[in-house]
Amino acid sequence: MSKYLIAGNWKMNTNLDEAKKITDSLHSFIGFDSEVEMLICPPFTHLVFLSEIIDLSRISLGAQNVHYEEKGAFTGEISNEMLLSVGCEYVIIGHSERRTLFGETDEMVNKKVMNSLKTGLRVILCIGETLEERESDNTNSVLETQLNKALLGVDTTINLKIAYEPVWAIGTGRTASVEQISETHGFISNYLNNRFGTNTIKKLYGGSMNSENAKEILSIPNVNGDLIGGASLKPENFISIYNSALELC
Ligand code: 13P
Repeated sequence: MSKYLIAGNWKMNTNLDEAKKITDSLHSFIGFDSEVEMLICPPFTHLVFLSEIIDLSRISLGAQNVHYEEKGAFTGEISNEMLLSVGCEYVIIGHSERRTLFGETDEMVNKKVMNSLKTGLRVILCIGETLEERESDNTNSVLETQLNKALLGVDTTINLKIAYEPVWAIGTGRTASVEQISETHGFISNYLNNRFGTNTIKKLYGGSMNSENAKEILSIPNVNGDLIGGASLKPENFISIYNSALELC
């Protein structure tokens, strides 16, 4: 198992041409390293094409969302099976943008997690508190509730990763401090240990990661990777974050 997972969430950015250029640049910079895994999560429309041009032994492919039903009359939705069939290995579930902008509830997140794990996808479950929740000292209880609800009934953790993304740090240029990340990742780690009796579930940090702060954040105990938004669209920045992880191995 790799030591770090460096994941890029492209969100609703790039047309196919731009996506191809980013992917080409990533290929030309990274070799194969079993210690650090690189993952990109482009928009749905690019997945088929990118899975054909990506060397999947060097760069893993993921989606940013999925529906929890297997198939049927769910206009506009994408299933786990569809993702697997185009070479996707990962799926991001419960991103705060899905929760706040698209009304995704903890119950929906739970169904998605259950079904994706059942289908064999690797799940990156996102959790995180708002600024108001942090300032009122409720961070741990908010995260605990999100974890309790999202992981209800989950009994296998092989393909489960957790991304801690403080909502106030996403796309704001404001990164959580080393102390905040350290404390929160410690809390999540204890939770997972108590719940599943294992310390092997990767915990990623996300929120205004960049090439300057990557090494410091990746060296915090219980941080096993990053989920990167804006900086993952700039290959030189994404590679630089990837290289910071390599240096720490
Ligand atoms: P930024 O890196 O742009 O803050 O986004 C983080 C994120 O939401 C990744 O899922």
